[in-house]
Amino acid sequence: QDGDAEAGENVFRKCQACHQVGEDAQNRVGPVLNGVVGRTAGTLEGYNYSDAMVAKGEEGLVWDVESLSAYLENPRDYVNGTKMSFAGLRKEEERADVIAYLSQFSES
Ligand code: HEM
Repeated sequence: QDGDAEAGENVFRKCQACHQVGEDAQNRVGPVLNGVVGRTAGTLEGYNYSDAMVAKGEEGLVWDVESLSAYLENPRDYVNGTKMSFAGLRKEEERADVIAYLSQFSES
């Protein structure tokens, strides 16, 4: 199901306490999310991930619509030991929308 990137920009407000995206984005509490769609989990240079997230990437986790939706629904369930302290987005539509928004800053 395709999300609505414009609606996703509003959903992204819930992420902005910790994440930046777009031109001049910098790592904060969480990593920059430019290029996250298509990125192997835990691999952005210069960001200090949890061991759990690095391990997921080594196991082959790549962020796509499906894996992002699963992580965003319940971060600690999907990546046991993640240091992302975020309760998650329970609504499927909000997840699809924020992923559509993030896709605008990614190649794929
Ligand atoms: C990691 C998305 C909210 C803190 C990540 C990753 C994604 C993501 C995709 C993995 C990035 C990668 O592997 O390079 C989002 C989205 C959010 C959100 C879309 C809102 C819906 C938050 C909030 C916080 C936060 C509110 C802080 C309270 C972190 C941290 C990590 C992370 C610390 C690194 C996790 C680790 O190394 O285990 N986030 N996030 N995020 N996020 Fe978020």
